[in-house]
Amino acid sequence: MPSISGLHLSIVLLAYSASSLPADSCCNRLKSVSGDNVFFPGSSLYLESVSSYFFLEQRSSPACIVAPSTSEEVAKTVITLTHCGEIEVAIRSGGHSPNQYFSNTKGGITLDLRRLNSINVSETGSTVSVGTGALWGHVYDVLDPLNKTVVGARVYDVRIGGFLSGGGISFFSPQDGFGCDNVLNMQVVLANGTIVDANTTSHPQLFRALKGGQNNFGVVTRFDLEIKSRSRFWGGAIVSPGAADAAQLDALLKIEQTFVYYGSQQSFLSSNNLFYLTDPPDPNDIRALNRFTEVYGLWKKTTNKLAARAPNCTSALTYQSVPPPPGATKSKNSFPFTEASETHNLVLMLTSLYSPEESDYATIHEEAQVFINLVENIVEKSEGGTSWKYLYYAASWQDPLSGYGQEMITQLKAVASLYDPESFFQNVVKGGFKVQK
Ligand SMILES: *[C@@H]1O[C@H](CO)[C@@H](O)[C@H](O)[C@H]1NC(C)=O
Ligand SMILES: *[C@@H]1O[C@H](CO)[C@@H](O)[C@H](O)[C@H]1NC(C)=O
Ligand SMILES: *[C@@H]1O[C@H](CO)[C@@H](O)[C@H](O)[C@H]1NC(C)=O
Ligand SMILES: *[C@@H]1O[C@H](CO)[C@@H](O)[C@H](O)[C@H]1NC(C)=O
Ligand SMILES: *[C@@H]1O[C@H](CO)[C@@H](O)[C@H](O)[C@H]1NC(C)=O
Repeated sequence: MPSISGLHLSIVLLAYSASSLPADSCCNRLKSVSGDNVFFPGSSLYLESVSSYFFLEQRSSPACIVAPSTSEEVAKTVITLTHCGEIEVAIRSGGHSPNQYFSNTKGGITLDLRRLNSINVSETGSTVSVGTGALWGHVYDVLDPLNKTVVGARVYDVRIGGFLSGGGISFFSPQDGFGCDNVLNMQVVLANGTIVDANTTSHPQLFRALKGGQNNFGVVTRFDLEIKSRSRFWGGAIVSPGAADAAQLDALLKIEQTFVYYGSQQSFLSSNNLFYLTDPPDPNDIRALNRFTEVYGLWKKTTNKLAARAPNCTSALTYQSVPPPPGATKSKNSFPFTEASETHNLVLMLTSLYSPEESDYATIHEEAQVFINLVENIVEKSEGGTSWKYLYYAASWQDPLSGYGQEMITQLKAVASLYDPESFFQNVVKGGFKVQK
């Protein structure tokens, strides 16, 4: 009997200390303000939210999840969160980042924006307003029957906000730039709960900062996007065995032009800024090819090492083009590329490493860091190499914002302190890459 009462006692103590944590009292405050929008562990909506993250690392357990369905409710939520003291907050639209805690928390509060998912085509049919939590696939489902589209994600179940605030590479990017370059207006909830429009005439610095600067400045609740006409387009993947890698590399400069066909009218082939073959070949192309081959060799070595330590892992190396900078008719983003800079020669390298075994994660990160350091050495030595990294492809231990250039970082910091003087998005919202660190 004594041992049973001892057990009881410890449960009571645990429950008591848990409810006195700031996150729990904040959840209760949210509950009194937002009622049914707040989910607690054990409820089916909570479980649905946690289990719906694409990467297992993100399926951590917040103290509660708050899921508003209007921008006014987001504003109320943000005001409550800014008054909760020492808590951790994560903001989620789709939750597609592989970086732990970028869009979920463990024991903190997760702001789940997936209910902000409406899609309204304007009367003139030239723009579409999209809630930050809508699926790109649903936007295409609305626009496809009209033979229209937008510069959005290449994956159906990625959501709007996370994709557009850090850039966004689309099938149309070789022609139209990053997804964010085709945004006309963003509705933003600021740290003090004010809802503003950010566009070229209203809060233009905030607008620019949000095109690449991600979650440092406010919560974007709605994006107004330019609609574009499209013809039918084709695409797909031709998969070859590993033995063909050498031949694939030799053909790399040609492949995008030879095998990828995106459309009859809006042919991306001529506007593909990345690979071209002249006859005789441009010596720059040859130099580039040497670098691709060198990086490929390192990747192969790394992958073999990794496979020996983590046999169930998957390792991928992808080369793709960096979208061209916004031209004269578009407003600027926060990336360091201008029309004068030679982005047509830049190739973005992505290494994706997966494993179903949690015990492999540390090994994967370790090997990935060694590999990335070696690649960075190659890039540093390369004429025209850039330290810019694509924020969405960066691991949490990388520092993509530093590659935006000192001038832009200074500007991003100024925008962050102007719109978020109490540093809510810097300190309380833990995940993401921070401008002030
Ligand atoms: C779409 O229109 C509805 C009805 O007017 C409105 O409630 C909703 O906020 C709009 N959504 C967007 C993303 O503009
Ligand atoms: C869309 O394009 C297809 C094929 O070109 C055509 O048959 C169809 O009529 C078009 N639909 C609209 C709404 O314009
Ligand atoms: C920019 O914001 C202002 C202020 O809300 C608004 O009147 C204007 O229509 C917006 N511009 C665009 C392109 O949405
Ligand atoms: C690899 O996966 C197989 C099949 O799921 C499993 O039986 C095995 O234990 C895994 N190996 C390691 C080292 O995790
Ligand atoms: C909210 O913050 C913005 C940006 O810092 C500021 O312009 C505005 O006056 C603030 N509103 C209130 C009600 O404090």
